[in-house]
Amino acid sequence: MSEEVTYADLKFQDSSQTENIQKFDKFEKEEPPVPSHVWRQRALALTLLCLLLLIGLGVLGGICMEKLNTLRNFKEELQRNMSLQLMQNTNSSQKIRSLSIKLEEIATKLCRELYIKNKGNKCKPCPEGWMWHDDNCYLLLSGYQRRKTWQKSDEICSDYNASLLTIKSKSVLEFIKSLKLINYWLGLSPRKDTTKYNNLDTIISFNWFTRNTSVISDEMYCGYIYYPSFFYTECTDTKNIICEKLAQSVKIESILMSEVLDRRK
Ligand SMILES: *[C@@H]1O[C@H](CO)[C@@H](O)[C@H](O)[C@H]1NC(C)=O
Ligand SMILES: *[C@@H]1O[C@H](CO)[C@@H](O)[C@H](O)[C@H]1NC(C)=O
Ligand SMILES: *[C@@H]1O[C@H](CO)[C@@H](O)[C@H](O)[C@H]1NC(C)=O
Ligand SMILES: *[C@@H]1O[C@H](CO)[C@@H](O)[C@H](O)[C@H]1NC(C)=O
Repeated sequence: MSEEVTYADLKFQDSSQTENIQKFDKFEKEEPPVPSHVWRQRALALTLLCLLLLIGLGVLGGICMEKLNTLRNFKEELQRNMSLQLMQNTNSSQKIRSLSIKLEEIATKLCRELYIKNKGNKCKPCPEGWMWHDDNCYLLLSGYQRRKTWQKSDEICSDYNASLLTIKSKSVLEFIKSLKLINYWLGLSPRKDTTKYNNLDTIISFNWFTRNTSVISDEMYCGYIYYPSFFYTECTDTKNIICEKLAQSVKIESILMSEVLDRRK
């Protein structure tokens, strides 16, 4: 049995060896025809394809980069143009602003000339019946019926969006002197003591009333003008009223309008 197996094994080994040799022989004989030029052709084709793809990618990439660069340049130019435009716009609006300020100054000057010639000129930046001096408008309310206590007078001026007369500059002082006002309340701060006589020229340095800072009672003394002086008297006395308020700005249209009206006369 063991002998048989050994033999068989040997036989098998033998045959497999010969088979191997045979196969090897066969392999050596059959190998050359299959790969040689077919495989080489295929490899070449693949290499070419790869090369082409690479070139294509390169070209595409180049085109893309070019496009990107163009876009980036365009964007930068646009940004430059926009910031330039913004600067020009700012410059323009600054120019317009300074021009309109200048125009308003000219209009005010012109209107002042017209006002000097004719106090009723329509360009006047004050309401009807008010006088114009510097930047202020002034209203006189006089006569026996219209005389009021200081407090009432202050309220009346308030109703006009105005306040009682103040004299805080040399220019206003000269203007008020020219009016030669007799018995008009002043917007001086009421005080607890009276004073005898005050020259109008000293009035600029006096305390002027500001709403809600002074408490007014019946025992206080209020200032009034009696050209060429001013005095303090009981605030419950009755006197004429002069109100003041800021003038509006002169409108170009109002000057043109007044010129047209003047020509028609
Ligand atoms: C930028 O401005 C210049 C000159 O004003 C103009 O020629 C150009 O077309 C502008 N560029 C863009 C992107 O708007
Ligand atoms: C704007 O004005 C300034 C001077 O005020 C000037 O230097 C600048 O060149 C102006 N810019 C433009 C875009 O006009
Ligand atoms: C006072 O000012 C108010 C608000 O500004 C306004 O409604 C009113 O008409 C003005 N009165 C006078 C007399 O100007
Ligand atoms: C100022 O006084 C008036 C009445 O005299 C009052 O109604 C107002 O509340 C006061 N304002 C302030 C800020 O004190």
